[in-house]
Amino acid sequence: MKILFLFTAGLMFLCTSTDGSASMRYVNARAVPSTDHYLDVVPIEEALTSSVMCVKLCATDVRCLSINYHKNKTCQLLDTFYCKDDTYVLKPKSGFKYMDVDFNRSPDELNQYQNSVDCVSRNRCSPKCTDCSLRSGYHNRIDGYIDQTAAIIEVTTRATSSGCRNYCISNYYSVCRAIVYYAAIQRCTVLSLTRDMANPDSFKQSVDFEYRQRWCT
Ligand SMILES: *[C@@H]1O[C@H](CO)[C@@H](O)[C@H](O)[C@H]1NC(C)=O
Repeated sequence: MKILFLFTAGLMFLCTSTDGSASMRYVNARAVPSTDHYLDVVPIEEALTSSVMCVKLCATDVRCLSINYHKNKTCQLLDTFYCKDDTYVLKPKSGFKYMDVDFNRSPDELNQYQNSVDCVSRNRCSPKCTDCSLRSGYHNRIDGYIDQTAAIIEVTTRATSSGCRNYCISNYYSVCRAIVYYAAIQRCTVLSLTRDMANPDSFKQSVDFEYRQRWCT
């Protein structure tokens, strides 16, 4: 994999080429307004490095969805993010900042969130924090699955794809955002993240798997 980083006004522009197929994407990492705070969860990885390298580490680890960064160069990669869970708190600690990491969002979209009241007053600054109400209906099937352990709420066996969709609705109405159904072994995976919340590299295309995302309006 070849990676090139360029900075443009707080936005990071990342180019990767894997297996001969080139792709380009935006990776945006920006600290929330409450400085001297960190998200109090167990990091998936910790390193001593610059903030630029820390974002690069996050961008190339499919599990990474946000960062705690301390000015003593402590870089913590997190497989969750502040607004994912109402029980999460940003804890005060001098020198720390918490950064949301977003992929493939346009600068306009990011600015809209970063200038919102929710961001300024509640540290909800990422497009991932969108307050929408989950609906009973699903978007059309996409062939593939999310390879991201932290996104999984439950793995169960259901006889059919519609059985899997109903299971998500009836058991996890307010938290299940998507399902993946693997027909070959009738495996139903209930997910708390949609594929546009996760690192794009964690979505694997495969006709054997049915990914369906719930409507959220
Ligand atoms: C950096 O600061 C954090 C938070 O105070 C602390 O836990 C960590 O040990 C420090 N690391 C270094 C290398 O000083």
